[in-house]
Amino acid sequence: MHNEINLDKIDLNSEPPAEESRRQYYFMAKLRGLAAAKAQELGRALSYCLVTFGCQMNEKQSEVVAGILDEIGYQRKDTEDADVVIYNTCTVRENANLKVYGRLGRLHNLKDHNPDMKIVLFGCMMQEEHVVAKIKKSYPFVNLVFGTHNIFKFAELFYEMLMADTQLVDIWDGTDQIVEELPTERNYSFKSGVNIMFGCNNFCSYCIVPYVRGRERSREPEAIVKEITALVADGVTEVMLLGQNVNSYGKTLEHPITFAKLLERIEEIEGLKRIRFMTSHPKDLSDELIAVMAKSKKICHHLHLPMQSGSSRILKEMNRRYDKEKYLGLVEKIRTAVPDISLTTDIIVGFPGETEEDFLETLDVVDKSCFDTAFTFIYSKRSGTPAANMENQVPEDVVKERFDRLLALVQEKGRIASSRFEGTVQEILVEDESKEKGIFTGRTEYNLLVHFPGSEELLGKYVKVQLDTCKGFYYLGTLAE
Ligand code: 5AD
Ligand code: SF4
Repeated sequence: MHNEINLDKIDLNSEPPAEESRRQYYFMAKLRGLAAAKAQELGRALSYCLVTFGCQMNEKQSEVVAGILDEIGYQRKDTEDADVVIYNTCTVRENANLKVYGRLGRLHNLKDHNPDMKIVLFGCMMQEEHVVAKIKKSYPFVNLVFGTHNIFKFAELFYEMLMADTQLVDIWDGTDQIVEELPTERNYSFKSGVNIMFGCNNFCSYCIVPYVRGRERSREPEAIVKEITALVADGVTEVMLLGQNVNSYGKTLEHPITFAKLLERIEEIEGLKRIRFMTSHPKDLSDELIAVMAKSKKICHHLHLPMQSGSSRILKEMNRRYDKEKYLGLVEKIRTAVPDISLTTDIIVGFPGETEEDFLETLDVVDKSCFDTAFTFIYSKRSGTPAANMENQVPEDVVKERFDRLLALVQEKGRIASSRFEGTVQEILVEDESKEKGIFTGRTEYNLLVHFPGSEELLGKYVKVQLDTCKGFYYLGTLAE
């Protein structure tokens, strides 16, 4: 899948090609020449630092940007004293934005020491008008700003930025283009995220995602299968299928196909061992999907099913299109079909108008559902969303107090759920060496982390470990064979 087009063979005297991926390789070839000349002038290789905020979708898109920079000859480093510093931003909650502004202040100081340094901002936060206005006004030292829809244009934008002497801003309102086959630099050689769709059409009333990621678009199943087949040929054995609402995958394609059918096609790919996916919206979780999960040999028995609230009244205000009973019914249905399933969820505390009674409903669902993990969030007002204009915002101290109570219950329940594996032997995919030398970390199909004494040659392999001690959300284990 990598380097489908050989940069050396591109004629740089010709006009840029119109076909999009060829066009981007053309600019990569130009950039490679410029980077080589600059490196020679400086007597050292050029470097970049890429920081990703937010979700796995962002991680995946950062891999494309990293792949392009690697292709043109920049070397990656972890610190920001680099020739290019790039932030892939998130705006799902206010604190994600604040982090970026805070770090930009520090970058300004670094740039004073290296005036040649380039600063690039892209991703969800940049799709908001007030953010771009602020960057233009208060952060003129930022060189390039683009959004979520034109990431495939990165090479071309980067080239234009180098040619320009003022801040370059290119934000698109949307796109129906899906450009395949750009170079990517994967974070792991043995597992990978795979986008199956982009955008979201749900408009949950608190959520900014539909505004910054645009309308829902599914990739063609053939393109997805082709990408995964190539990944497997390149050493990948686990894929995470990514979309804001994977359960509505395929509905808008010319030849509609369900998510369950897509999973069946992916299951057939030889050499692939594990299939994960996220995120599932409860309103679209079908019986067909549950049946496919139950009989599959490759789909991991883990389901992330965001509930957001346990109160039917609040769920209605959130525009979630299910109620408490429907959610609990789904949990029961999936547990009946897949008894060993690990369930995780997202919960928001302090949505406008949430009363103590509403909150108790949320605690009740947590109590009944036995989640392995629940990600808990304090409601964050996002301008432009319907909930931001709701009058009855909950006072901060009330929200904080509820949040602490919820967290305590979530942790207690999580410990109980995770401890069901204590003493068992499980297969894990070994992913990382931990900070402590000689201690490695792997993941069970249930998405549970296990730390165990091991060695480097186990990285990327499947091994059996005995889960000795449950530490709440992770285990300490030992190799079983
Ligand atoms: N405030 C708090 N949490 C939010 N999420 C999305 N929007 C908001 C918001 N405005 C949470 C939801 C979602 C997760 C990715 O982020 O729980 O599932
Ligand atoms: Fe946001 Fe709802 Fe879409 Fe998820 S489904 S991205 S919470 S609007």
